[in-house]
Amino acid sequence: MFSRSASRTFTQSRQFSSSAARQTKVAVLGAGGGIGQPLSLLLKQNKLVTSLNLYDIRGAPGVAADVSHIDSPSKVTGYPADQLDQALEGVKVVVIPAGVPRKPGMTRDDLFNTNASIVRDLAAAVARVSPEAHLLIISNPVNSTVPIVSETLKKAGVYNPQRVFGVTTLDVVRAARFLSEVTGAHPDECKVTVVGGHSGSTIVPLLSQIAHGKGVKGETYDKLVHRIQFGGDEVVKAKDGAGSATLSMAYAGAKFADALLRGLSGEKGVVTPTFVKSDLFAQEGIEYFSSNVELGVNGVENIHPLGPLSAEEEKLLAACLPDLKKNIEKGEAFAAQS
Ligand SMILES: NC(=O)c1ccc[n+]([C@@H]2O[C@H](COP(=O)([O-])OP(=O)(O)OC[C@H]3O[C@@H](n4cnc5c(N)ncnc54)[C@H](O)[C@@H]3O)[C@@H](O)[C@H]2O)c1
Repeated sequence: MFSRSASRTFTQSRQFSSSAARQTKVAVLGAGGGIGQPLSLLLKQNKLVTSLNLYDIRGAPGVAADVSHIDSPSKVTGYPADQLDQALEGVKVVVIPAGVPRKPGMTRDDLFNTNASIVRDLAAAVARVSPEAHLLIISNPVNSTVPIVSETLKKAGVYNPQRVFGVTTLDVVRAARFLSEVTGAHPDECKVTVVGGHSGSTIVPLLSQIAHGKGVKGETYDKLVHRIQFGGDEVVKAKDGAGSATLSMAYAGAKFADALLRGLSGEKGVVTPTFVKSDLFAQEGIEYFSSNVELGVNGVENIHPLGPLSAEEEKLLAACLPDLKKNIEKGEAFAAQS
């Protein structure tokens, strides 16, 4: 099962190393924020990261000075607002959590007006300074920011779809945790492949593909699916105006970055869901889709098909596709007039 391979890859040893890995410089753009700070802390502990460049329009040098005292070998450098280009020099992986988060009552799409231009401008800088970098997009709405980044790189003539990723790992993390709460099984036994996009009804958990998920039925199933799709709202509500998920998102972002870094350094069989340029629903006009993706030395190596779906999952997918299409088109339209 795909989900089984994903679970295997997430728990594999982090000791894997190669000469390529020893050269890996990673940048975090938005490193001073709620996600950026704990994400930087977690990346500092990753053995595959040799240099960590922290950039933000506010506060990155302070975060860098703090994180740099952690006793791991990587070198940490902070860059203030006017040093974006310096922060991007020679980087192999760029993680972008820059932008504004949701407040109660907002959807991820409500963030579009602010975050679209932030992400576009950061992508343009990456295209100029480190055109071969792999871009991990956390800034919401991911369904639209990934197309914006891709179109920006296309305009600059440096687009490679193997190197642009929407980070949907928090949906995978939530699905495993919430399913374990329902079944009593260990979260490691509840690795659910989550496909589609990253907001509300576009999030499609394939519970039927794993043993513990298959048995969940009726009202319990409906509630579990709703919780996986709208789990972010629980955090937005509880934070009561102070933002959205930051700590669980930093964990998820670090987990995805680790998977990519392992793939880039030559490890085989690294498979995890991520939102990428995909042929799976291209015939329906949907150019980007999250499904299990094998990560390797070139980034995206192989996009897995969805596998067998239950009748319920077919319905979830049918509801996902039109919303996802609209989100993608909105991102593309923004990039076209920029
Ligand atoms: N992909 C996911 O699953 C997921 C989950 C949670 C949140 N998010 C998104 O992540 C983003 C960040 O959330 P947060 O809670 O960390 O917000 P935050 O406001 O705490 O931090 C955002 C940071 O981005 C910085 N920033 C703004 N414009 C910038 C620019 N042009 N260049 C560099 N840095 C810039 C800000 O100074 C701030 O430090 C939001 O868009 C949020 O919706 C995504």
